[in-house]
Amino acid sequence: MSPTSTPVADLDRIVGEALAAFDACRDPAALENAKAAYLGKAGALTAQLKALGALPAAARPAAGARINDAKAALEAALARRRESLAEERLAADLAAQALDVSLPGRGPGRGTLHPITLTMQRVETLFRSLGFAVADGPEIEDDFHNFTALNTPENHPARSMQDTFYVDGGLVLRTHTSPIQVRWMERHPPPVKIIAPGRVYRVDSDATHSPMFHQVEGLWIDETVSFADLKGVITEFLRRFFERDDVAVRFRPSFFPFVEPGAEIDMAFGDGGWLELAGAGQVHPNVLTAVGIDPQRWQGFAFGMGYDRLAMLRYGVSDLRLFFENDLRWLRQFA
Ligand code: PHE
Repeated sequence: MSPTSTPVADLDRIVGEALAAFDACRDPAALENAKAAYLGKAGALTAQLKALGALPAAARPAAGARINDAKAALEAALARRRESLAEERLAADLAAQALDVSLPGRGPGRGTLHPITLTMQRVETLFRSLGFAVADGPEIEDDFHNFTALNTPENHPARSMQDTFYVDGGLVLRTHTSPIQVRWMERHPPPVKIIAPGRVYRVDSDATHSPMFHQVEGLWIDETVSFADLKGVITEFLRRFFERDDVAVRFRPSFFPFVEPGAEIDMAFGDGGWLELAGAGQVHPNVLTAVGIDPQRWQGFAFGMGYDRLAMLRYGVSDLRLFFENDLRWLRQFA
């Protein structure tokens, strides 16, 4: 066997060729092909390893070691070339401005307050300035607080004025925020001057009714609080809320079991039409008695109105359901 045909004799030439081939590659795919040509199963260096068997046994260890050194050198050269190709690619992208590293990152988007939330905040601020405290209570209520204490015993026809979602265990999703006021009076002796804002639920759904909506009710109990005070507070509130001094308010006789006399409150709008905004009246003596307040000594008014209606009027929204579709493009307009 001639010396030049031994594996080791070709080694320097193969390594030299491989290094030149790696350098000539202009992209990662070409580099992987070049790698296969030398280090792959059928590669030139692999053939050298296979040819070791043809050497005299005494020459094999040294030849094998040289081949392994050559293999390690080629692998190191490959890794360097991979890295430099990636750097070239990044530099090219930067030069072409395909990648602008000065752009801010994509952080979580900042939200805005929902128009109903903005309305609730505004109403709370206005009533606080009129001396009302803000009370809260559970959305899942028992029958007593949602109905019975409010002069609406079981089988009373007025229960059907508010079609109810019943929950297991004789509980209901509260149909109004009046139970907040019942709970407040159970714990606080009069005088009482609170508003009760929150979510309420009724079986109802169209352009002006949603099965979940928002309400604010008010309660003022003292020794001489009269229907005239109710008119004064409501009218002043509406003036401030709509930022108009000329609001025209109308009280229409109406029935709610928990008030006597009861009224519905309308406000004049644009073309001379009236829009219903609230229910109200003097608190029924049975309601005071149910929470242990002496109706001979204490009296006052209650009212309830829908936040959604207030928000629709203030923001000029014609379909209530838009508030609850959660389309951020729509909601952001109000922030
Ligand atoms: N609770 C009544 C409702 O939700 C509103 C109301 C409150 C009416 C207080 C009169 C007095 O329909």
